[in-house]
Amino acid sequence: MNLRNLFRLEGEVALVTGGGQGLGEQMAIGLAEAGAQVAVADLNRDKAQKVADFISSLGVKSLAVGVDVTKKEKVDEMVAKVIEHFGKIDVLVNSAGIGQWKKSEEMPEEDWKKVLDVNLNGVFLCCQAVGKEMIKRKKGSIINISSMSGLVVNTPQPQSHYNTSKGGVIMLTKSLASEWAPYNIRVNTIAPGYMETQLVQDLLRDLPEYAEIWKKLTPFGRLGQPEEIKGPCVFLAAPASSYVTGSVLVMDGGYTIW
Ligand SMILES: NC(=O)c1ccc[n+]([C@@H]2O[C@H](COP(=O)([O-])OP(=O)(O)OC[C@H]3O[C@@H](n4cnc5c(N)ncnc54)[C@H](O)[C@@H]3O)[C@@H](O)[C@H]2O)c1
Repeated sequence: MNLRNLFRLEGEVALVTGGGQGLGEQMAIGLAEAGAQVAVADLNRDKAQKVADFISSLGVKSLAVGVDVTKKEKVDEMVAKVIEHFGKIDVLVNSAGIGQWKKSEEMPEEDWKKVLDVNLNGVFLCCQAVGKEMIKRKKGSIINISSMSGLVVNTPQPQSHYNTSKGGVIMLTKSLASEWAPYNIRVNTIAPGYMETQLVQDLLRDLPEYAEIWKKLTPFGRLGQPEEIKGPCVFLAAPASSYVTGSVLVMDGGYTIW
């Protein structure tokens, strides 16, 4: 295939969870810029609608869907809506996620369960519901957003539940890549480092000095900008990565080198 076509997604349909803001929003826009029609799903339906409207303004068909990824029936409804509207799903991006800092010895059980539920169980439920459809067509690319926190314990914040959930996403990705390779479904994960999104800004509100600590620990000396995830996402969605599955694409400004 000509190099120019390796990154084109015309005729493809993508579904992005957590697409209402942050990294999910940027990936939804990036996939649309590469030519894909995009369904934007989020707990906050209004935000999903805004992103879908922006994508439509680019001349690309888009759809907003409200969803709570921790609820199997809502996830199934989301998939049914997208298939009813577009007829298929070629690309699934799981970006819905939450973060929280809590010392393990003080962590209420419900906080542990909530973070695992959204960040890991939610990814599984979306992979399962969309994977079933992809298996029927023997075609698909799934991109799960994990984190460098699934590979290293980044400091100084205590977040054992978050780190565990992201480590789980990496192993889930590899497991599904193995199970679904016979169906021509690729499953990969992007592991971002610190990215300047609402999630990180909310976490930094009480401890803004952590940003400076993180920058010192990052070879690039800065946080990532949300739009910097567009390229890795389009690469993993597109024919450019046709022989790539089960991989962890680390984009962390070098954080995990040291
Ligand atoms: N920002 C970072 O530094 C960073 C680094 C590594 C990994 N990540 C991961 O990237 C993903 C996106 O993070 P972000 O920084 O864009 O966060 P964000 O808070 O800006 O956006 C997350 C989106 O997910 C949605 N969401 C939350 N719970 C949901 C649920 N139950 N169902 C459906 N949607 C839900 C939110 O409404 C929000 O729109 C997350 O999985 C996060 O863990 C972020």
